[in-house]
Amino acid sequence: MHVGILTGGGDCPGLNAVIRAVTLALVNEAQASVTGIERGFLGLLTRQVRPLDARAVEGLLAQGGTVLGTHNRCDPFHFFGAAGADCSGQAMAYVRELGLDALVAIGGDGTMSIADRFSVLGLPVVGVPKTIDNDLCHTDRTFGFDSAVAVVADALDRLETTARSHGRVMIAETMGRYAGWIALEGGIAGGADVILLPELPVDVDAVAAFCRTREPHEGYTLICIAEGVKLQGAGFTVREHIADSPDPLRLGGVGAVLQQQLSQRLASEVRHTLLGHVQRGGSPTPYDRVLATRFGYHAAQLVRRGEFGRMVTLQGDTIGSVAMSEVAGKNRIVPVDHPLVATARGIGVMLGS
Ligand code: F6P
Repeated sequence: MHVGILTGGGDCPGLNAVIRAVTLALVNEAQASVTGIERGFLGLLTRQVRPLDARAVEGLLAQGGTVLGTHNRCDPFHFFGAAGADCSGQAMAYVRELGLDALVAIGGDGTMSIADRFSVLGLPVVGVPKTIDNDLCHTDRTFGFDSAVAVVADALDRLETTARSHGRVMIAETMGRYAGWIALEGGIAGGADVILLPELPVDVDAVAAFCRTREPHEGYTLICIAEGVKLQGAGFTVREHIADSPDPLRLGGVGAVLQQQLSQRLASEVRHTLLGHVQRGGSPTPYDRVLATRFGYHAAQLVRRGEFGRMVTLQGDTIGSVAMSEVAGKNRIVPVDHPLVATARGIGVMLGS
């Protein structure tokens, strides 16, 4: 058996741990040969691959990023390198030339959409869900999320001591795209006083009033805001438009806008910190190393059983799988009645209005 592995979309802690687990499981249990495809689907067009074996994946468990490289604009069905032309046939021909019996695609919703289209063309594909945003449907967790939450919690711990010392309102802006999972869990873990999510309305006057009530007693306020929050009367805060990308909006900067708006309303000094890609880099947490290993092992089992067109999932503590078509192009946002929302509200966290 000859199996290809690729990592698509943005990088994320735990990708290397999945590559390692898929490779080791296939080599140990099926004596398979494994080929890494470089820079996501781009490698199928540029013909960049490398052999993977037990030696090649040594020491990868705790390494951040992806040793295979990745690309978040390469959709072979709309290839940016050929003015948007459909180059999927070229990719399929290369897969046949390599003699791949299966492909394991590790990525987010964009990668799952592309993988699903290849699956329809007859490519035997298995998907593994990756994203720090935790916004893929049909899985309770994606690997990388726990690592991002740990970074946010650590940042809030640090911001708290300086906020307290100066009597400031401190704003930390998290990633997460259109979903508030990182801000919600990171905010709770870091003891934020205010957590602002894209899923809940934000009334800046109400946030200011809440900060004001804290001025005489606590003297400071810690705010955790997700990048996808729309402030009153405004749309998304967009840092950049990427014309030929399947995900053309790069969000970022809403924390700075909130700083301006709160400064006009408060006596206290207001400052913001954009956490940015720090949340995506570095070593995966132990939880993510274990989850990535479980996902990778299960992906190898799906390949061996010939269960293709499916993405690995975690439901409760059970690893399973779902048809990729069920996941492709969809996002899982925070339900407004999620128990964590109620928990935050119940302990006095201000949620925007
Ligand atoms: O989807 C993961 C993510 O990190 C989002 O949270 C963020 O909005 C986006 O990717 C950033 O992408 P890029 O690295 O291309 O700026």
